[in-house]
Order: sequence, then C-alpha cells, then structure tokens
Amino acid sequence: MSDLHAEQATNVVLEIDDAKVAKVIGRIEEARALIDAGETDAAMALCKDILKTPGVPLNTAVKVGLLIRDLGQAEIAELVFVNAYEKIRSVMDRLDDPERALLPAAEALADLGRYDEAEVLCRKAIDAAPNNLTVAVGYAAFLVHRDRLEEALAITERYCDLTDSKFNGAIHFAMIFDHLNCDEAARACLERAKKHCKSKTQRAKLDFFLASKGMKKTAEDQHGMAVELFDGFAENYDTQLEKLENNGPSMVLTALEDLNLPKTRSRRILDAGCGTGLCAGFLRPYAKELHGIDLSVKMLEISRKKGGYDFLARTDLSEIVTYPEGKFDMIVCADVLVYFGPLTTVLRNFSSILKPGGWLLLTVEFENNPAVTTGFKLYPSGRHKHTNDYLQKTLAEAGFPKPKMLKHARLRNELGAPIFGTLVAVQKPALSFV
Ligand SMILES: C[S@@+](CC[C@H](N)C(=O)[O-])C[C@H]1O[C@@H](n2cnc3c(N)ncnc32)[C@H](O)[C@@H]1O
Repeated sequence: MSDLHAEQATNVVLEIDDAKVAKVIGRIEEARALIDAGETDAAMALCKDILKTPGVPLNTAVKVGLLIRDLGQAEIAELVFVNAYEKIRSVMDRLDDPERALLPAAEALADLGRYDEAEVLCRKAIDAAPNNLTVAVGYAAFLVHRDRLEEALAITERYCDLTDSKFNGAIHFAMIFDHLNCDEAARACLERAKKHCKSKTQRAKLDFFLASKGMKKTAEDQHGMAVELFDGFAENYDTQLEKLENNGPSMVLTALEDLNLPKTRSRRILDAGCGTGLCAGFLRPYAKELHGIDLSVKMLEISRKKGGYDFLARTDLSEIVTYPEGKFDMIVCADVLVYFGPLTTVLRNFSSILKPGGWLLLTVEFENNPAVTTGFKLYPSGRHKHTNDYLQKTLAEAGFPKPKMLKHARLRNELGAPIFGTLVAVQKPALSFV
C-alpha cells in the first residue's frame, strides 16, 4: 500500500494530452467492465497498474480512486484522493493555464464531491479564457451534472457569441450535450446551429446530426453529405486525424502483417474510399497496381499530389460497379463504411469486383449496444456504428464466408475518449471445380 502511495506521489500529473487521456480512459472503462463482471481481483490489479503508468492525469487518477473505493479498498482509495488533492491545491491559482491546470483540477474536485470548490475553479478558468472551447465545454458539462441546464446553455451562448465559430461551436456543444444525455440542451444548440448554418458543408454536418436524432429522415443523400463533408475537410484531414491519433490505417497494416500475406508486388489492389491516401504507403509493397477511388474530388486531389496510387478515380461505392468482375486481388476499405448505414450494396459491389480467393479488409465502428437491433446506428458524429452480427450476416449475403480475422481495437479518439472499431479480413471463396 505504501508502495502505491509512493508511486502515486510521483505519477499523478496534470495532463491534457488527448491521446494519453484517451488511453487511460479506455483502461478505466476496462476496469469498470471487470468490476461489473465480478472480476474484482483483475479489476484491482488493473487499477493499480493504471496508477503506476507514468503521467497518469490527475483527474483520471481520481476516477481510478473511485473504482478502488467501489472495490471496497477505502484505505487505498483515500491515499489516491489525498495525493490528488495535494496536486489540485498546487494548481488552483494557475490562471495562466486554465485548460491544462484549472479544468482537470475542477473535474477531479467534482468527482471528489467538492462541488463548490470545483465551481470556483471552473469560474476562474472561464474568466481567464472566455474564448477557449474546452474550458467552456468543461464548465457547461459541470453545470449539466449539477442539473443547472439554463446556466449551461448560457455558457454555450456566451462562447458562441464571443467567437467566430458560431456554427461549429453550436454543433460541438450539441454533441457534448448529447453525449451527456441532455437532449433538451442538445436540441437548443442544434436550433442555434441551424440559425448559423451558412455553407453546404455546414448543412451536411447538420443533416447528419439531425438524422441521428430522428429530427430528419435518415440520411438518404449519403453521397451529397459525404462530398460536402470531405470536400470541406480535405485540406486539414491529415493533421486533424493525426491529432485524434487515427489508428484505422494502422489496423489494416497490422492485419496484413498478421495474415502473413507475402509482400510481393503482384496484386491489383483497390483502396476503396482512399481519401488523402493514408493507406497507400503500406499497400504499395503488396501491389503491382494500386487503385484509389473516392467520392470527394478534394480528397482525391490531395492523394494525387502525394502520388501514392497508380490510378485514381472519382467513384461512389454504392453505385453500380464501374470495374469488370473479378478485377482486384484485394480491396481495402478503411474508415469509410462508417458513412453508410446499410452495407448490402457496397459489400455486394466489393464481392463482384474481387477475384475468387481475393481479400477484403475493412473497418467499421463497433456497435456493442444490444438495444441496437437493426445492426447499425447513426450517431451525431455523422458516422454509423455496426454490430458484429450485422457485419457477418451482410458479408455472408454478399458471398463472403466467415471472416479469417475479426478484431476490435481503438480506431481514433473523440471528445477525449477512444472510439472502438472492428477490423474484418475476409477472403472470397476460391473457385472449385468438381
Ligand atoms: C474518414 S475518410 C477515410 C479515408 C482513408 N480510407 C483513410 O483511412 O484515411 C472516409 C472517406 O470515404 C469517402 N466516402 C464517403 N462516402 C463515400 C462513397 N459513397 N463512395 C466513395 N467514397 C466515399 C470520403 O470522401 C472520405 O474520403
């Protein structure tokens, strides 16, 4: 116990590195799942392990302390809290760093049930940085948790009025409120977003969101929305995805390596929904001919400049196929099917243009909510999550047998938390002559 205390003292730090925070949050969720499954020893071991991780953020250390307390280890939990509280006290006057110092400290205080002190820090943070979105979101979330909706909305309004990003701010707050299960506030922010919606890209973003909330008929115009979204996003796509620790292309890369496919430049490969070409580099050693297709001209334009493909074309994955049957030895589709609800047409198209014995590698976001009985669900992010059952059923209907590989991993981070994805590698049956 004293070992843990000693390590705690050195490890609990202020940390706003999204990637690190997301990793720790993922592990906290894992520990919570172990507790729920009654595996208390494993949960306790994981909690201790998290606390020993170098650089465990102060606010997440408190969350681990709460889990330890739930595990009936009040004494150890208290050590964690005391240690965290010392750290909080040392940063209470860091007006120079409201986002990295005051806000995590406020969150930790709220988790410790010290709401008044937490609010003082939230106020200090927002006075010091009224234009900072993270700070405004943090304070609004605190107020929502305290059931002070009107005040939370006033914070969002103030932020949106003070900044140029009236539309983006309103959409962002709508997502946060939705995430906090605060429908009323989310709807109010959506109304504000509607008022400030100026461009086609913004319209597309808004439509996806409205559809996800059942406030608009489900996105019939997948094509139009994707074009608007990605044309508007193309220039910043690579840097944005890097910030979110995008792991989609690496998931495909790891799968290729795990499948032990020989790196012979012998295959005709299609990168379906190639975007800016993040997969091109690692597909190259497997390809004699590398094709990239996408719907967004702006994304294709960036791919063209990078020069990673032999052929690039603008194609809609859900339209009638433009390639001859059996053209490709491999199709890779990373982080694209999230923009589709039903996958029947796209998977049939893939099946028809794949050679017998050819490989299909794809990623989707993982839906593990048993209440989702339709197999997929659209979220305010504008993306869908798909269940494993739906994926396997639809693959089978498109002529693919049981996947050779199906695994889950972190796809990227969003709102400081990991988004989990499913990677599937499946091989079209080879022709057999009897
Ligand atoms: C998140 S990006 C992924 C890009 C790339 N595969 C990667 O891993 O970086 C999704 C891409 O899918 C494309 N897309 C969305 N709907 C499409 C459709 N119906 N047909 C073709 N491409 C589509 C978008 O234009 C965008 O470039």
